[in-house]
Amino acid sequence: MIHVNSINVWLLFFPFVVLCMRRCEPTVKPGFPRSVNKSNPGVQRAVMVAVYEFNNRSNDSFLFKLLELEDAKVQVVTGLKYILEARLGRTVCRKREPYDLKNCAFQTETPLQQILNCHFEVWTVVWRNFNKVIVLLCV
Ligand SMILES: *[C@@H]1O[C@H](CO)[C@@H](O)[C@H](O)[C@H]1NC(C)=O
Ligand SMILES: *[C@@H]1O[C@H](CO)[C@@H](O)[C@H](O)[C@H]1NC(C)=O
Ligand SMILES: *[C@@H]1O[C@H](CO)[C@@H](O)[C@H](O)[C@H]1NC(C)=O
Repeated sequence: MIHVNSINVWLLFFPFVVLCMRRCEPTVKPGFPRSVNKSNPGVQRAVMVAVYEFNNRSNDSFLFKLLELEDAKVQVVTGLKYILEARLGRTVCRKREPYDLKNCAFQTETPLQQILNCHFEVWTVVWRNFNKVIVLLCV
């Protein structure tokens, strides 16, 4: 019977862990969420994915779009998890018509004007072209 204690297991895997950390995500260390520049392309893509998902799930007749990205964090978890705090506003563009969100103005009249505070968590694995919104909370 082979007895392997935890230190031996660690020594066995340590080189692979270090290799992956350096090759997979050179700029971000694994572990806790860290603040990331809001204009980072990965953040921008995560915001787009989250807003798209929000509009897909909502039953509103109008589309919402980003009003302000208040905070962005990133955490390494087999890929990257973006943790976003954002404000979305209701636009004048209706869901059923073709649209380009960029050109959709925000509603300005009181009954239709609405701003939501959202918490999004978007998991992306870039090398597998995988994006998933794992948390979407808007109030
Ligand atoms: C974020 O990135 C932009 C563009 O790369 C840069 O102009 C800006 O100074 C950065 N902001 C912070 C807080 O690092
Ligand atoms: C959300 O997307 C699914 C799949 O693409 C689609 O079938 C569904 O109608 C969409 N729902 C809304 C409310 O847009
Ligand atoms: C949207 O409508 C469907 C069907 O009427 C309902 O099951 C769902 O909970 C609604 N979603 C929201 C976010 O209100």
